[in-house]
Amino acid sequence: MRHPDIDAFLAASALALRAATKGAAARAAEVVISRWQAAGKPGVAAERLPVCDWIAPALAAVAPERAALAAAFAAIEGQLRWARRASASIHEQTFWNGHANAVILGPGGLEARDDLWVGVTVMAPGVDYVDHHHAPEEVYLSLSPGEWWNSDMDWTDPGPISAIYNPPGITHAMRSGKEPFLALWYLPL
Ligand SMILES: [Fe+2]
Repeated sequence: MRHPDIDAFLAASALALRAATKGAAARAAEVVISRWQAAGKPGVAAERLPVCDWIAPALAAVAPERAALAAAFAAIEGQLRWARRASASIHEQTFWNGHANAVILGPGGLEARDDLWVGVTVMAPGVDYVDHHHAPEEVYLSLSPGEWWNSDMDWTDPGPISAIYNPPGITHAMRSGKEPFLALWYLPL
């Protein structure tokens, strides 16, 4: 049994993913959606970072088409364990102070499991998220303005109701502009 707030977030995620994806991204989304039908185990306790203060203004500016997803996310975000990327250095203050990630479902998440990753990234305005790569493919849904890059794609703002797809293993990055950045990510493991 899941908490109803997590169920509501997953239902809103499935609607938004299906509305925003096609092709490989849609296939990846369906794998993640099919896996989360079975609940995982209770996971980690909440932890917050100062950059989380950007979540509320980002949510306040969400596109109408993502308002239900944003509201469902707002209901659970206070339960998440927000953390910096493991590779972040305190000597790079803009990135150190300007980003946080949280796992909603997956290893180290609010719901612990090892067959998928559903998570979220928040960034202050004017932050570049470092280039990174990982074996699983990945679908991002944005809840704010922002740009994505991968080694097959120039910097792209997907717009408020679209999605970004990163094929397995590709090097990719993202960045905020003048507004705070908030995006959800969905990966089959
Ligand atoms: Fe990624």
